[in-house]
Amino acid sequence: MASITIRNIDEKAKQALRERAARNGNSMEEQARLLLDAAAQNDKMDEAQFVSTGYEAGSRSTAIIDPYYPASGKRILMIISGGIAAYKSLDLIRRLKERGVSVRVIMTKAATEFITPLLVGALSHDKVFCDLFSREDEQDVGHIALAREADLIVVAPATANLMAKMAGGLADDLASAVLLAADVPLLLAPAMNPAMWNNPATVRNVETLANDGVHFIGPETGEMAERGESGRGRLSEPMEIVAAIGQLLDDAHKPLKGLRAILTAGPTHEPIDPVRYIANRSSGKQGYAIASALARAGAQVKLISGPVDLPRPPGVERVMVQTAEEMFQAVENALPADIAVMVAAVADWRTIASAEEKIKKKPGTKTAMTLKLTQNPDILKSLGHHKKRPTLVIGFAAETQDLIKHAKAKLKRKGADWILANDVSHETGVMGGDQNTIKLLSNDNTRTNVEEWPTMAKGNVATKLVDKIIVHFETQTVNV
Ligand SMILES: Cc1cc2nc3c(=O)[nH]c(=O)nc-3n(C[C@H](O)[C@H](O)[C@H](O)COP(=O)(O)O)c2cc1C
Repeated sequence: MASITIRNIDEKAKQALRERAARNGNSMEEQARLLLDAAAQNDKMDEAQFVSTGYEAGSRSTAIIDPYYPASGKRILMIISGGIAAYKSLDLIRRLKERGVSVRVIMTKAATEFITPLLVGALSHDKVFCDLFSREDEQDVGHIALAREADLIVVAPATANLMAKMAGGLADDLASAVLLAADVPLLLAPAMNPAMWNNPATVRNVETLANDGVHFIGPETGEMAERGESGRGRLSEPMEIVAAIGQLLDDAHKPLKGLRAILTAGPTHEPIDPVRYIANRSSGKQGYAIASALARAGAQVKLISGPVDLPRPPGVERVMVQTAEEMFQAVENALPADIAVMVAAVADWRTIASAEEKIKKKPGTKTAMTLKLTQNPDILKSLGHHKKRPTLVIGFAAETQDLIKHAKAKLKRKGADWILANDVSHETGVMGGDQNTIKLLSNDNTRTNVEEWPTMAKGNVATKLVDKIIVHFETQTVNV
């Protein structure tokens, strides 16, 4: 293999590489190779248009290279067994690769009926192993080595059949033989028809495996591929599996360990009557991404969320609320905390009194409808001046005009330490979209600093913000 030497790496980059290598227990060279591999993988994904698996060209801008992902730099052996959800394992491979994880794949014979080893190999950048009795593979790596050279084995999807074989200790193909020989943590992500999942035989097998120390994620409840079928049996979302792998391989890098964070996210719904409400277009994506990044950095996170259609980020405690008043109360209940990040788009007003019955039109009249509104509590301001004020209070300013002017005024009025200002005019696509353009305002005694961030994926905004939070607390500790 050709080797390359990289000259003139600046000291900061070298230090980051050194720390990352130390964290993952490998050399700087190995770490650099993994990072380059991940970057090349992202380029490759941009070129490919795996529309059927949800990938689209141009995904580079939303790819997340996550420096806090605990499994970054680790080796995962992924086993794909023969279920209808096998195609989702492609996304899982991609998500792991872009986080700097080395992924080697075994496919069962049945899995190759659903997706091809060629496609899997193109994504994993490695040979795909399918045959227990392949002389070439056995000499090359060997099935015992396959099991041993991994930090964790994940089976996604895990069929009822493969789990039955595992529970019974069978080893009649490469996947089951490797699983029987493995002495590393095993994570299964089952996926099957609800009738198969609820079958007493499967229930017994899952119980046996759980008692043997095998970890499970899912299955989830929802619609099945079979028309008209729903129930428990869906494969967990790839990002949930990524998070579960991260948690199992989490060694220690938790710079915010011991700190408590309160997050608010999403819109609020202010009822007009039992069926109508005042709301806004906030999707909750930015707040959820920050909650997730804080949790990955080790903070104990309480996420107070308005009504959104997003799964609870792993490792985060979530309280769901509807109205601004409920959100205010939930924030009060969550105090004391060290960090508060108020991302929710809280409605400024609510109706004075929500009607008990659905408000009816008056037949024959075209009179304008008048709603009487009153102001909601100001959650950020209350925290900024609270007697239990968190050490670091961060707010968001969503504006459609005079962004900096309004954000500066907000920073002062609310008593916040930092304000992340973003332009949410319709044409920016920020509300509900996947990208954000941030200006970070902070006060240092005499003047307000404004830091402009380039447009980036909301996940990357979250990582960058958490980086700053970490530096903030590290500097504080040094100063004490
Ligand atoms: C179209 C189709 C879809 C299937 N989907 C699933 C599934 O989602 N989960 C499952 O446990 N088995 C499913 N099966 C059955 C498995 O493919 C079968 O049990 C096979 O023997 C599993 O082999 P493996 O465990 O070695 O991969 C499906 C079969 C077919 C034909």
